Amino acid sequence: MLNQYLDQNKQKFLDELFELLRIPSISADPAYHNDIVEAANYIKNKLIAAGADKVELCETAGNPIVYGEKIIDPSLPTVLVYGHYDVQPAVPLDLWDTPPFEPTIRKTAVHPDGAIFARGACDDKGQVYMHVKAFETMMANNTLPCNVKFMIEGEEEVGSSNLGPFCIANKEKLKADVVLISDTSILANDTPSIDCGLRGLSYIEVEVTGPNRDLHSGVYGGAIANPINILAKMIASMHDENNHITIPGFYDQVVELSAQERAELNKAPFDLNEYKKDLNVAEVWGETGYNVMERTGIRPTLDCNGIWGGYIGEGAKTVLPSKAFAKISMRLVPNQDSHSITELFKNHFESIAPKGVTVIVKPHHGGEPVVTPIDSHAYKAAEKAMEKTYGKKPIPTRGGGSIPIVALFERELGLKSVLMGFGLDSDALHSPNEHYGLFNYYKGIETIPYFFQYFSEK
Ligand code: BES
Ligand code: MN
Ligand code: MN
Repeated sequence: MLNQYLDQNKQKFLDELFELLRIPSISADPAYHNDIVEAANYIKNKLIAAGADKVELCETAGNPIVYGEKIIDPSLPTVLVYGHYDVQPAVPLDLWDTPPFEPTIRKTAVHPDGAIFARGACDDKGQVYMHVKAFETMMANNTLPCNVKFMIEGEEEVGSSNLGPFCIANKEKLKADVVLISDTSILANDTPSIDCGLRGLSYIEVEVTGPNRDLHSGVYGGAIANPINILAKMIASMHDENNHITIPGFYDQVVELSAQERAELNKAPFDLNEYKKDLNVAEVWGETGYNVMERTGIRPTLDCNGIWGGYIGEGAKTVLPSKAFAKISMRLVPNQDSHSITELFKNHFESIAPKGVTVIVKPHHGGEPVVTPIDSHAYKAAEKAMEKTYGKKPIPTRGGGSIPIVALFERELGLKSVLMGFGLDSDALHSPNEHYGLFNYYKGIETIPYFFQYFSEK
């Protein structure tokens, strides 16, 4: 019955997602504010059309949050669906094979049935829209088995700073039994998995100042500290020869997994050669004593995300710059705390700066790591739903990315989340040519109603 509705509406479900993908709802750049509002309204209207009640745009100090609900019986359980309609900037545009906000379908090696190429296709509009269409399907067939609330935000990609206060101010409205989120990956289209952990994040910008003005690199070079040279050396010094992070105290709170937990994690299939081939690297890199899955799943990291300063125009200009800058992220694992790590970074960075420069450390947004239970009723419902539609039991995995609000759901709303994502890590999230498999999109729409069904069966 459900599958029939999906089959009959495949084209419509795709056309609508295309419309949503055409709206450049980039949260990092205020120039796209109208598009942010348009994307929020698009989802609002589709929730109304599907039969949701109390659908509204909730204003915040930043971008609006789309809220909607269907309470069929207050005595039944309630699923809170969370996702985000904002997307990452699409730059560098010249690296896209087709324009980021003109969705097109192309086949790829891992998506032989075709994939939708567009910014936000996978992260997270495609995955959010699966929920809207799964809801429509259940409503149309009169099979919604419990209550549902939607909270789709527009600031996930910039740290969700207004969603926390919104949740705290709306505890009653958001009352639910579980949060269901599709904003993560599965291992492969023939290997379903469910993330049961996300890393936290501490994001920092640094500014290193040398002389009070740009100088002739011949006249002064060699006698004055070059802030770019210094910054490069400072960043490089933050990993030792085993690629351990050298910030004192950085690992103090890190939870080491037991041999059994590690063995469990390593049951997930992983092909190192495929991984290297996909990224065109001759060798992987990382902390001694851990493999790739562990390095991205259970270990913290420090990475420079951007570095600039001096002359970067055409040709050569001989200049010893006054300033150098970098953006640095640290991915955190249980039980690291983003504020403490930011503080440790700041103290360390200031302490290793040589006398010839001054440094400013500016913290950006952060978020806490989470682990979600795999023995809960909700996890088991997701597991059963995926097993039903993929024909295979999903493997519990640890996601390397961050969704900072998940820790807050637990802390402030007392709600655990289930990370039932459907994307692939190779779908180029945040990169040029982001895409989302048609298989994945439809599989999500097919699977979500089973989650509702199994979750409602106590
Ligand atoms: N959906 C991603 C997070 C993600 C992707 C988790 C794949 C697991 C697997 C999310 O939109 C994201 O990109 N989060 C940011 C954090 C935010 C504070 C900018 C991230 O992880 O960089
Ligand atoms: Mn996302
Ligand atoms: Mn993202």
